[in-house]
Amino acid sequence: MNDSAPWTAECIRALKGCEKIVALTAAEYGMAKRLDEAGIQLILVGDSLGMTVLGYENTLPVTLDEMLHHTAAVARGTRRALVMADMPFLSYQVSVEQAIANAGRFLKEARAGAVKIEGGAFRAPTVAALVSNGIPVLGHIGLTPQSLQVLGGYKVQGRKLDEAARLRADALALQEAGVFALVLECLPVELAREITASIRVPTIGIGAGPHCDGQVLVVHDLLGLTGDRHPKFVKQYAQLGEDMKAAFENFRRDVQEGRFPGEEHCYT
Ligand code: KIV
Repeated sequence: MNDSAPWTAECIRALKGCEKIVALTAAEYGMAKRLDEAGIQLILVGDSLGMTVLGYENTLPVTLDEMLHHTAAVARGTRRALVMADMPFLSYQVSVEQAIANAGRFLKEARAGAVKIEGGAFRAPTVAALVSNGIPVLGHIGLTPQSLQVLGGYKVQGRKLDEAARLRADALALQEAGVFALVLECLPVELAREITASIRVPTIGIGAGPHCDGQVLVVHDLLGLTGDRHPKFVKQYAQLGEDMKAAFENFRRDVQEGRFPGEEHCYT
């Protein structure tokens, strides 16, 4: 593929077995611009923005309008990466028709290139309907945060034999339904390795070990903007939360103690 052509779902699918796929979340224009410039191939407007940006307790309250608003901002900051919109809770579960209508808005109004929906084999008819109507779909199995109340918390999935068997079957069913890639969240390393080897579409892991075809993290976790409490699978590459606090305190002190604005900041 040429070095500046935009990434499409089909290009991403074709990377399986060739190179590792790199994905991060974003919720706004400036962040998307930097991710795109850094060569991140996939930008996920994850509904985790409900917690990181909007201050909700979990992803359940996030609305379709909020996701459309953030996805459009991310798309405006992106030239090359594939922008994928997370469909929020109850925007695709009620009926296939509603899923098509809502997913279509992400492509028509917010300029996303794909949508992500959570769920296993039971979600295959929805995936197939979206794909056959021209909407690329990223699947998501394992720990699916929109089912938090049923799962009973943020826990590793697939440790029991029956759970592992179900996840293997889910991956195959979603592949047959037409997903271009599949997020595996919070799975034991060996199970993620097996699933990755058993399907033709790439797996994108988050807390699923090194054998996945790609990796995704929530950008606020990676940048150190979510404080000290984060899941084991997170690697922090910066401490921007601390840096921001220090900058704000310095500004406060400079103003209070008369050092800002200085001569160089003033018009004559
Ligand atoms: O909402 C989100 O951020 C996600 C993850 C897979 C990163 O779904």
